[in-house]
Amino acid sequence: MPAERAYDIVLFGATGFTGGLTADYLAAHAPAGTRIALAGRNPAKLAAVAERLGGLCAPGVEVPALLPADAGDPVSLARLAADARVVISTVGPYLRYGEPLVAACAAAGTGYLDLTGEPEFVDTMYLRYHAQALATGARLIHAAGFDSIPHDLGVLFTVAQMPTGVPLAVNGYVQARGTFSGGTYHSAIGALARVREAGRIARQRQALERAGAPVDGRRVRGAARPPHRVEVAGGWVLALPLIDAQIVLASARALPEYGPDFRYGHYLAAGSLANVALILSAVGGLAVAAQAGPTRRLALKLRLPGDGPDEATRARSRFRVTFAAEGGGETLTTWVAGGDPGYGETSKMLAEAALCLAFDDVPACAGQVTTAQALGRPLIDRLISAGIEFGTDSRPAATPA
Ligand SMILES: NC(=O)c1ccc[n+]([C@@H]2O[C@H](COP(=O)([O-])OP(=O)(O)OC[C@H]3O[C@@H](n4cnc5c(N)ncnc54)[C@H](OP(=O)(O)O)[C@@H]3O)[C@@H](O)[C@H]2O)c1
Repeated sequence: MPAERAYDIVLFGATGFTGGLTADYLAAHAPAGTRIALAGRNPAKLAAVAERLGGLCAPGVEVPALLPADAGDPVSLARLAADARVVISTVGPYLRYGEPLVAACAAAGTGYLDLTGEPEFVDTMYLRYHAQALATGARLIHAAGFDSIPHDLGVLFTVAQMPTGVPLAVNGYVQARGTFSGGTYHSAIGALARVREAGRIARQRQALERAGAPVDGRRVRGAARPPHRVEVAGGWVLALPLIDAQIVLASARALPEYGPDFRYGHYLAAGSLANVALILSAVGGLAVAAQAGPTRRLALKLRLPGDGPDEATRARSRFRVTFAAEGGGETLTTWVAGGDPGYGETSKMLAEAALCLAFDDVPACAGQVTTAQALGRPLIDRLISAGIEFGTDSRPAATPA
């Protein structure tokens, strides 16, 4: 970790909805003496954020410095990456804006964290920058919010309590109540419009990983069943083809403690069969609208970037992910739970992950890495201290399918 840089943490995107919440959290929770800067393209908006933070900063934390940077200006991003130990980006959609900053951090050996939920972006960044980051020592961590920290660290937490050296099967069941921001909505429509390209890039990544993988005989597989009932999930569950399973499987490939044969299934706990049908038809409708230019533009007008749920809505929002594990003759149920998944808890998770990367004694690694691989137990401990629950059920669990 380069210690001689001007800033410990630079946040790119503080003028946006999630970036603003992340800036508030960092200012209020960073340890005394943390050197924070906010980077963005609009000096007046950045100055307004800094003024708000003036009333929030923890003792010994100064109002952040402001750095001009634009996603379309690689020189400004190279300067930003060279001045920071850790960079956070909340500038999305990442498929549109994200690559130049990842390139700058990979080149400068700078720690990088983002909130992307776009699998094509993560795979493309792996293909283009993983090898360079291995060489410079940069740790490039994607999906460091509700996508995919509770799932990735929840599985790590679960596996640590299971027998070692045996095949393990884990299923995660997600329950979430809340709404989404304009930025998230635009990112989701963008990803839905490119499912074919995303599949092609994912296959290229798989081919590269197979070619370079150490032959240690371990197997790591995803598992997705059609809708079915699961007792620990409280009813019907529906396979979730989100980035979370991809991240959990990347952690399983990187960490030998996941055992010789690891399977992970990722599901939405939908409750009733009627909910399953409703969700399938809503997502199907959006996916169809996203395919053609005119309907896509119409769909994008429904939510604007910069908008997000108000404080009262966020206060009512909750999440719980239940994990059911089986292996070596044992079964176990665990959970991760917290408040507003999309924004309140996401900004907390992202800021704590950045503080963890900057200041904690974390595992040595480099390249494109996951939160389980790069931050592991120190980040679980931070999140527990920050009010996110990690729990273990002492009752016998239902055997996962
Ligand atoms: N996975 C998760 O759990 C999770 C949760 C929340 C959000 N997210 C993701 O996080 C991203 C941000 O969401 P949001 O709702 O916070 O979005 P938002 O409110 O629209 O904010 C976007 C930010 O990007 C900045 N930006 C846009 N173009 C730029 C450019 N060319 N150069 C520099 N900055 C630029 C904007 O700056 P200006 O103010 O100058 O326009 C703003 O600060 C989205 O991709 C969303 O999907 C993920």
